[in-house]
This record gives sequence, structure tokens and C-alpha cells, in this order.
Amino acid sequence: MPPELVAHRGASALRPEHTLAAYELAIAQGADGVECDVRLTRDGHLVCVHDRTIDRTSDGRGAVSAMSLEELSRHDFGAKLGDGPAPLLTLVDLLELVADSGVRLFVETKHPVRYRGEVERRLAELLARHRVDALMMSFSPAAVRRFKALAPAVPTVLLFGRYWPQRLPPFADLAGPGVHLLRRQAGRGGGAYCWTVDEPADIALCAERGVRFLATNNPAQTRGVLAANLTPDQP
Ligand code: G3P
Ligand code: CA
Repeated sequence: MPPELVAHRGASALRPEHTLAAYELAIAQGADGVECDVRLTRDGHLVCVHDRTIDRTSDGRGAVSAMSLEELSRHDFGAKLGDGPAPLLTLVDLLELVADSGVRLFVETKHPVRYRGEVERRLAELLARHRVDALMMSFSPAAVRRFKALAPAVPTVLLFGRYWPQRLPPFADLAGPGVHLLRRQAGRGGGAYCWTVDEPADIALCAERGVRFLATNNPAQTRGVLAANLTPDQP
């Protein structure tokens, strides 16, 4: 089976990351799933923002955790790419889009953060209220363990960036190595979630190793590379 394609921050090679436009394009391109990072606002809303602050991705400045949803909503998250206005995306917005389209949703909680375990608590509550095929992910083993205790039925991915241990802890269902770790460790990757995979050689490596979920910034292009690998030119 070829890997399922997961649009990393939406089709973020082509649209501003974590915007509705990025996710709509990913779904239109036929992505099997979408990935997002979530953070808690000062007033307890989960919003789709990667960095601690909104400085890089919006026309505003400041830490997500220090701002209310209303304050964050005044900013444009499309301006930096000159792509036209794009409002802040909440996790509820994304859950509604995903529920309508039927793709999988991979939600990453970022740590360390000011509100610590409250992030996983809010995430478990929201996922219980929305009928979506979701997976929870984090680089923080404590966050994954906490979430698994709150929502045992939701699959979890423990992400690895520096070191990829041979065994997973019992609260993690899947390993989530960066593709740089896959390159270094021969024979591994079967059943894993691998990020962030945009180069043709890495895409081919993931397919060869039996990676289950491949996170890419450009689902349509990655699908093309996979198809070309599966049907090499005939002499
Ligand atoms: O999909 C996992 C990957 O997104 C982790 O890295 O920094 O892009 O969130 P980052
Ligand atoms: Ca992420």
C-alpha cells in the first residue's frame, strides 16, 4: 500500500499555512489527511498556529497564549504571502471542514506551553464533540501520555526529531520520525507517520519502507512523484 498523504499545515507550499484556503486546497488535491498545530488562547480556545507568537505568519505581533480569540481574530494570516486576507483558523473551524470532507485529521499539540495539560484536555473535549477520524500527536511524551488517558480511543503519534528509539511507550500507537531519521536508520519506517516529506528521493524512500502516513507541504506534487515511482517507464 502506498503511504496516505497528509497535508502539512494544509497545502502550505501553495497557500499560507494553517489557513482555510490551505486546507481547502489540500482536500481539493485529494489529500488523505491534514495536519495542524494547535495552541490555546488566553481565553481557552484552540487555534491553528505553529509558532509561540503570530509574528511570522500574520500582520500582528505577540504570543498566542497572551491574546484572546477576539484579539487574534483582528489579524490577517494571509498577508505575509501576499495571498489576500486570511482569517485566523480555529480548531473548531478545521474540525467542521474535516467532518464535511471525510479526510483524517492529525492534531499536534506544542510543548512546552504556558497552559500545559489544559491543551490536551481541551483537545479531548473537542474531539469527543465532533465526528472526525482524528489522531493526536506531540513531541512531548508527557502530552501524549496525558491525552491517551483522557481519550483512549483516539490513536496517538509520538513524534521524534533528534532520536528515534527502537520501542514505543504503551501510550503511543504510532512512531512519528522526521524523514531525516528515516534516511539514517536502515530498514525502519513500516507503519510510521513520517514528516515532512517533499523531496522525490524521500518520497520514494517512504514508499519503499512501508511508511503509512507521509506528511507533505504539497500533496498533489507528492502524489505525482508516488505515481511515477509505482509505474516506472517501460522500455
Ligand atoms: O507533522 C509533524 C511535524 O509537523 C513536526 O514539525 O515543526 O512542522 O510542527 P513542525
Ligand atoms: Ca506540526
